[in-house]
Amino acid sequence: MNNFVLQMPQGIFFGPGEWKKLPELLPRFGRRVLVFSGQHWFSESGWQHRFREVLSSFEVLSLQCPGREPEVEGLNGLLEQARDFKPEVIVAVGGGSVLDTGKAVSGLLPVRDKVEDFLEGIGKGLKLDVPGVPWLALPTTSGTGAEVTKNAVLKSKAHGAKKSLRSPFMLATYALVDPELTVGAPLTLSGIVGMDALTQLVEANLSKKSAPIPRALSRQAFPGMLRALKMIPKDPDDLQARAAAAYGAMCSGIALANSGLGAAHGFASGLGGLYDIPHGLICALFIRPVLRANAEVIREDCRLLYQTALEQGVADKQGAAAQDDPVQWLIGEIDSLFSVYDLPVNLKGFAVDPGQIPEIAHRSSGSSMSGNPRELPQEEREAIIAGLL
Ligand SMILES: [Fe+2]
Repeated sequence: MNNFVLQMPQGIFFGPGEWKKLPELLPRFGRRVLVFSGQHWFSESGWQHRFREVLSSFEVLSLQCPGREPEVEGLNGLLEQARDFKPEVIVAVGGGSVLDTGKAVSGLLPVRDKVEDFLEGIGKGLKLDVPGVPWLALPTTSGTGAEVTKNAVLKSKAHGAKKSLRSPFMLATYALVDPELTVGAPLTLSGIVGMDALTQLVEANLSKKSAPIPRALSRQAFPGMLRALKMIPKDPDDLQARAAAAYGAMCSGIALANSGLGAAHGFASGLGGLYDIPHGLICALFIRPVLRANAEVIREDCRLLYQTALEQGVADKQGAAAQDDPVQWLIGEIDSLFSVYDLPVNLKGFAVDPGQIPEIAHRSSGSSMSGNPRELPQEEREAIIAGLL
């Protein structure tokens, strides 16, 4: 067995009502609380009032995260405001972008160098090697698993790239994963972010960088995530389904943070840096051709995913067909989710320039691509992108 390291938050509180532990946990760090939330969800929902009540005995600065995905340029402004406030603890309540913002600010507050200098692949290669400000993650969507990962994905307009800021010191101190916070999320959003979690479970499981615990965890969590994605459209208020999705997304985060990913996430990095396309949608679009490209080397692992789904009562007994071709079974399951959530089946609506295919393929060759079960040469990557235009 190869050496490995397993890293996750100091504590994970999972289940309905766990968000109410906030006032009990925060005094461990202090009373000056910096709260990050998204522009829409938090300000437009009844939760804003409930959080304000729970935090009424603390000194709070509330900041809304600008834009859909964290950008280096916007982060600098937030960092300035955070430095003036001198928080003792940070609370990030929102989707993956909000959590990544809280995580990045936590890690960057103790240092003075420019954000870009810490970004993988484009900066000076500086490391965040001092503890950040303690932070608590409260996810309101079930997708990226950012509540348990040690990287924040930041977009740099100047470099036309999406890159990770990564450090074990950026892990949330506590993650409060409460499915109640995800009820009421728009269905399309639940589908898109859920496809990200599903892709993460699949890629972390199949990755050539996969370590034993993440591999076991992703295989065990995969069927529940698949079932949740099928159930949520039937009853978006079903707390059981929302809990299964929250659990699946959280496990996908633990798995990816301690394993690797694969080519679908490689493409998400390359394409997402140049075009404004939701991360989960890129993952959903690319995972099928990536599975086909990997088919020869992932058959046995896909068979295990199928068998686990069968054991958990998620897969139909498709017998010989699925046993013979578990890769095609997996592709078929993902196919069915596209129609359930009415997602675009290609990139036609996003004006991707065919002339940029070589560049996108080149920019996709980061750390996620290096975990893909087999090497995908530039020409093969270009063909996969072309197949989706
Ligand atoms: Fe992802």
